Amino acid sequence: MNTPPDTIEHRFNAVVRGRTEVSLRITVLGTGYLGATHAACMAELGFEVIGMDVDAAKVDALSEGRIPFFEPDLEPLLRKHVDSGRLRFTTSYDEVADFGDVHFVCVGTPQRKGEFAADMVHVDSVIDGLAPKLTRECLIVGKSTVPVGSAARLADKIAAASPAADVVELAWNPEFLREGHAVDDTLKPDRLVIGVRSAAAEATLRQVYAEPIAAGTPFLVADFATAELVKVAANAFLATKISFINAMAEVCEQAGADVTMLADALGHDARIGRKFLNAGIGFGGGCLPKDIRAFMARAGELGADQALTFLREVDAINMRSRTRAVEVARASCDGSFIGKRIAVLGAAFKPNSDDIRDSPALNIAGQIQLQGGQVTVYDPKAADNARKLFPTLDYSSSVTEACQGAHLVLHLTEWQEFRDLDPAVLGTVVANRRIIDGRNSLDVRRWKDAGWTYRGLGR
Ligand code: UDX
Repeated sequence: MNTPPDTIEHRFNAVVRGRTEVSLRITVLGTGYLGATHAACMAELGFEVIGMDVDAAKVDALSEGRIPFFEPDLEPLLRKHVDSGRLRFTTSYDEVADFGDVHFVCVGTPQRKGEFAADMVHVDSVIDGLAPKLTRECLIVGKSTVPVGSAARLADKIAAASPAADVVELAWNPEFLREGHAVDDTLKPDRLVIGVRSAAAEATLRQVYAEPIAAGTPFLVADFATAELVKVAANAFLATKISFINAMAEVCEQAGADVTMLADALGHDARIGRKFLNAGIGFGGGCLPKDIRAFMARAGELGADQALTFLREVDAINMRSRTRAVEVARASCDGSFIGKRIAVLGAAFKPNSDDIRDSPALNIAGQIQLQGGQVTVYDPKAADNARKLFPTLDYSSSVTEACQGAHLVLHLTEWQEFRDLDPAVLGTVVANRRIIDGRNSLDVRRWKDAGWTYRGLGR
């Protein structure tokens, strides 16, 4: 009996003919927030998956079904597929090179120290580790957010390093995950974008994403450069939208207008839309701030720096939103934080996350402490991470404890728990019923009715 060839094309044809028992084998290189989510979701889509990371402790934790960060819905999904045997983890490049038909590169691209540009060291090290081990047909798919031009450079690198260069291809498939919604954003994305150089690469990715495509997810096939740019352009647009409304908040404050009402009215115009028009202390996190800076740096290298000078202003408005919040807080403490107890509600850069990278909330807490305030922080999930970064701040295990004797309460991350607070009850523990809503998301009426002096930003 003839054994059918074990090639991607064969596997794809087998699926096309309805023989779904043979399926692509997938690996995910880098098992941080993006990679761990992608690996678990690929298993959920029915593939056999190996996640690979150089960090043995991370691999051990994931192999036991534990994730080292907070992301709703991810841990049960990971456990389900670790238990089913469809998902496992390794530290070995040999193992993934031997196993995978499709290798997803999901490592981080942080901001380079002292520069605006993205640090490609992890992406390059994955390609350097994997490419020389590839002895069979496969597709490498970059998901990391990279400077435009990286995919073309990496394709050359793979061609030079891989013993099977003729049958190894590269594609780029940017991720658009939001923290706190990572599983849903992977399984039901609002669009899929791929940058490819061949019909075969497109066919393989259509197979990987057959389920979301069948469910109607738009699938856009582009060249490398366009696919890379979509991601940074999307983040630049989102950052601009937030800074636009925060600039309007500054004007509203001077004019005596209400930025929340303004945003509601603007949002009814379908061309503008209400989403990402929430004024307050601005954006943070591991993506938006560093991605707009890396985008500016790359545009400069390409000779298109003037095109993106507006992003400098977007960045500046965003940073100013934090300083303005500190100034408003100081003014409501009669001009000085010295000797004042300040309760900070929220440390994560946004709700449903324990991520404190470039968190506006923590930045503000830190600034107030440096100006002499006694700051106590409470966050439902991010306190442990915050303590590592800002060990000198005080942390409480409940809202009530954080607010005990507080002269001022700052609401800085819009967790549901804070929206659900009873202002009358909280009013009994504070020294002053005074709250600044850095996210403009509390029910103003309820807080005022309970005798609080409520102050939003830009209203
Ligand atoms: C973002 C992009 O949304 C996502 O598509 C990309 O893949 C990664 O970067 P994320 O960093 O998870 O995702 O956070 P996001 O939900 O976009 O929020 C970013 C920041 O903007 C948060 O600090 C949030 O509080 C702030 N924000 C958001 C506002 O200040 N106002 C808004 O109206 C919306």
